[in-house]
Amino acid sequence: MLNSIKNCFNTEDFRKLAKRKLPFPVFHYIDGAADDEVTLRRNTQAFEEVDLIPNVLKGVENIDISTELMGKRISTPLFFSPTALQRLFHHQGEIAVGKAAQNFNTFFGISSLATASIEEIGEKFSSPKIFQMYIHKDKGLNDSMIEKCKINNFDALAITLDTIVGGNRERDLRTGFTSPPKLDFNSFLSYAFHPEWTLNYLFRKKFELPQLQDFVSEGTNINISVGDYFSTMLDQSITWKDIEEIKNQWGGHLCLKGIMSVEDAKKCIDVGATAIMISNHGGRQLDGSRAPFDQLAEIVDAVGDKIDVICDGGIRRGSHVLKALSLGAKACSGGRYYLYALAAGGYEGTLRAFQLIQEEIIRDMKLMGCNSLKDLNKDNLRFR
Ligand SMILES: Cc1cc2nc3c(=O)[nH]c(=O)nc-3n(C[C@H](O)[C@H](O)[C@H](O)COP(=O)(O)O)c2cc1C
Repeated sequence: MLNSIKNCFNTEDFRKLAKRKLPFPVFHYIDGAADDEVTLRRNTQAFEEVDLIPNVLKGVENIDISTELMGKRISTPLFFSPTALQRLFHHQGEIAVGKAAQNFNTFFGISSLATASIEEIGEKFSSPKIFQMYIHKDKGLNDSMIEKCKINNFDALAITLDTIVGGNRERDLRTGFTSPPKLDFNSFLSYAFHPEWTLNYLFRKKFELPQLQDFVSEGTNINISVGDYFSTMLDQSITWKDIEEIKNQWGGHLCLKGIMSVEDAKKCIDVGATAIMISNHGGRQLDGSRAPFDQLAEIVDAVGDKIDVICDGGIRRGSHVLKALSLGAKACSGGRYYLYALAAGGYEGTLRAFQLIQEEIIRDMKLMGCNSLKDLNKDNLRFR
């Protein structure tokens, strides 16, 4: 019976346990994507259509899977993508994810829509951390986020560029999911049948979005769907010039998230970015968009020697990471692989999910006959 994280051995196990533990509007907010969810499915399928070719007898007793990303050495070529509203998934929220990331010495990102403040994260974690910025219409809000990140020693700023309007997340429309969650007739029973979640939500620290609340009421005091938030609050007029200005204002490592074309990848170099996340937001924005893994080779071939290329999305197994690295990604990142585990078991769940994938990476590297990540290359792969 799948009732404990100890019985979870892969992402799908955590997903099933998360589904049992969460009220359905919250589960479907994590699990769902845009329109027909074609891109969501494709993001993982893309990895499954490529085969690994192992070599043997390479002396793989001691192997090294560490890598350098945005000036930091991380233990594993995988990190925690920024995701919104984490305290709705488990009351420990971003703090649990930060602790797990610190434990494995890898990057973790907090969202502009995080439920923990930049100050709290800066104070609690010295390990590599990214702040994910949505560029809002309110310039005062943008400036405040950048200044707080500087003061609190964030290692990189990641600007998400694929969210200029909200994606059409039909599961959220059906369940009525909003931030903060609202109890209505449709979802009432689901909250009532998940008393542990509901009591945590009602009686632990009040739900808030600390980066936003001095500037906007929507999302904290006024219920709004995440899609409507993006469509009404974010600045749809931004261009590459704005990114250059933000880069100058910030001054540190800049990562641009949501890059899918070679043309844009080249512009990222021009504006001074040190990393790009090839990403379609986990299929939550433009349905029908290509999978990050499918776009990786052409982007790496064009810019891989000038910028750190991160493959974001669809990762459910260690072998997926090996495949992306074989095509030249510096590292991978993902959301759902750890969010299901966060929902299933807070810090312990997140720790276990990352550990299982890290073990898969090490085991698969040995089975591939690779001593270090440099040994992974296109010769390891065959496209069907
Ligand atoms: C529940 C959820 C919330 C997310 N919130 C954000 C966010 O606030 N900012 C952002 O840039 N990306 C956000 N993302 C996208 C992730 O950063 C990442 O790109 C995506 O999860 C990758 O796909 P995967 O879930 O298949 O790994 C979110 C994803 C999920 C599943």
